[in-house]
Amino acid sequence: MRTVHLQRAKAQGEKFAMLTSYDALTAAIFDGAGVDVLLVGDSAGNNVLGYETTLPVTLEHMIPLAAAVSRAARRALVVVDLPFGSYEESPEQAVRSSVRIMKETGAHAVKIEAGADLCDHVAAVVRAGIPVMGHVGFTPQSEHALGGYRVQGKGDAAAALIADARAVQAAGAFAVVLEMVSADAAARVEDALVIPTVGIGAGNSTTGQVLVWQDMLGLRTGRIPRFVKQYAQLSQIIGDAVGSYVTDVKSGRFPAEENSFRG
Ligand code: KIV
Repeated sequence: MRTVHLQRAKAQGEKFAMLTSYDALTAAIFDGAGVDVLLVGDSAGNNVLGYETTLPVTLEHMIPLAAAVSRAARRALVVVDLPFGSYEESPEQAVRSSVRIMKETGAHAVKIEAGADLCDHVAAVVRAGIPVMGHVGFTPQSEHALGGYRVQGKGDAAAALIADARAVQAAGAFAVVLEMVSADAAARVEDALVIPTVGIGAGNSTTGQVLVWQDMLGLRTGRIPRFVKQYAQLSQIIGDAVGSYVTDVKSGRFPAEENSFRG
């Protein structure tokens, strides 16, 4: 998959599927299952590293995860998030961080939580020859500025959302994520742009959809956002299997003869 294939999907009225991945084994499974875009999201902060938010995530965290995903992907386009603090200072800083990601991970593109305010940064990275996916609407790195997890683009706020997405497109982005956005506003953004939009909690009008894999496969427990559909309950399956292992070890049933070497 290349960025042009995502743009072709929009032109031909087709959809594409994007899913997060942060390691080689899931990347190989998701790639083999037909996922078109693997996103090494800074949601690794919550889903891999045990932080409450994405704010503590650094390039040093992202690079080994992204390199593992890139090594395992055969077909999917691999997109890597620029973490908080690695691009906001200047277009030069955004280019420097993006170049590092491209050189050290083998990924194909970066994603930047940027609207109209940071479109100069997006343009600089694009000028450096690096494909950029924008991200507007609810942007988790700005959680505190946005007043928490709130649906964006409702009512009159739709105009600002469309302006943000247009600015990112004008800066040269090949696609733009719309996170936690009213489905009506998302439909207007998809219509207003030539490039594809990718929704997460943005209704069904976007060209692509993205979810965090631990949410959609039920590895994460606790409150799951309404926009997530769970396709499996991995926490239950893994918990049951590990419980059986513990029981077998304690009762002496494991290892059995067939798990042992002799001679
Ligand atoms: O980091 C991430 O997983 C993301 C998606 C929620 C789009 O940015």
